Amino acid sequence: MTRYASEFEESAGYMNFAAIGPPSRRVNTAIAEIVAAVSDPPGDVSPLVIGRYEASLATMGRFVGVAPERVTVVPSTSTGIFHVAYGLLDAGGNVVIPRHEFPANVYPWLRAEAAGGPEVRRVDIPDGRVTAEALRDAVDDETVAVSVSLVDYATGFRVDLEAIRSIAPEALLVVDAIQALGALRVALGSADVLVAGGQKWMRAGWAAGLMAVSGRALERLVPSLSGWWGVEDAFDFVTPAPHSARSDADRFQEGSPNVFGAVALAAAIEVVEAAGVDAVHTAVLDRSRSVAELAIEVGAELRAPWRVEEERSGIVTFRMPDEEAGETVARLAQAGIVVSERAGWVRVSPHASTPHEAIELLAATLAG
Ligand SMILES: Cc1ncc(COP(=O)(O)O)c(C=O)c1O
Repeated sequence: MTRYASEFEESAGYMNFAAIGPPSRRVNTAIAEIVAAVSDPPGDVSPLVIGRYEASLATMGRFVGVAPERVTVVPSTSTGIFHVAYGLLDAGGNVVIPRHEFPANVYPWLRAEAAGGPEVRRVDIPDGRVTAEALRDAVDDETVAVSVSLVDYATGFRVDLEAIRSIAPEALLVVDAIQALGALRVALGSADVLVAGGQKWMRAGWAAGLMAVSGRALERLVPSLSGWWGVEDAFDFVTPAPHSARSDADRFQEGSPNVFGAVALAAAIEVVEAAGVDAVHTAVLDRSRSVAELAIEVGAELRAPWRVEEERSGIVTFRMPDEEAGETVARLAQAGIVVSERAGWVRVSPHASTPHEAIELLAATLAG
């Protein structure tokens, strides 16, 4: 992982990628280059901007296994889910989500419900195992969408999307992938919507996320929030609005797409691809496993809802006996280890760039 690590400048003890992922040199350079290019345009700047945007969409599509027409840039995970929730306003029925989801996968559904959209069914999952079995009873013939995080932000539990697909084959499967994209192998696969901001594991910075959609998502989601960029012949200013919605994923744009964000995300993807998606995936899981093992060795109580390797991710949470999580986080910070507290637990999220020595320092500091 030396090549991957050489792209970054954060200190070795930074293990907070589930919160924010410092961007790479390549991302910084890509942003500086596009800003410079549009600051001193050779004439009409539109072809340059649109060309860079379309090239970025192709990179994003390749990364999550879809054609460029099936992916668009989003400023945040929430924005993508808002498009989906408001796209189902008139669909009736219900939407099923785990109750403990990060709020990005809650507010869009609640707002849409309040505006007359599908009933929101929030499922209690006390053991943190977001499985098909846990969601099955909430799903019925009226379910129009099931929406889950691929990796839970609080526990690190990784869901089996195929299994969840199987309990609601007719419903749209919506996936918030922000806690996996850039760390683990992620593809749209048999899901219908995959959305992820770029500010965490992807290390692209803010307003640099992606939304990938299936063919049936494109068919079913009414482009309720789409604006002028999201229509056919957007540059035909002779024919008055409204025009019909585009047939590709750019129909989910409220206005001009965030070209800088798209360029940053494409650069971030290239960093992962240069290191190897599988190699990064393995390195992240290696490091989170070491964190978990060493934490147990020094007496921590691990919050580990996973039973098999496929349910693990880059996130590990634990707490030390007789110490508030916030105190543990502060103690680690003094040793140069950056982690977060989430709901009374210490959340550690190392990336492929995290050196093993930093994880050993984490354990030694925990041990006191
Ligand atoms: C699972 C999950 N989804 C989404 C977000 C962030 O949402 P957004 O990109 O809309 O700010 C976070 C941030 O912590 C998260 O953990």
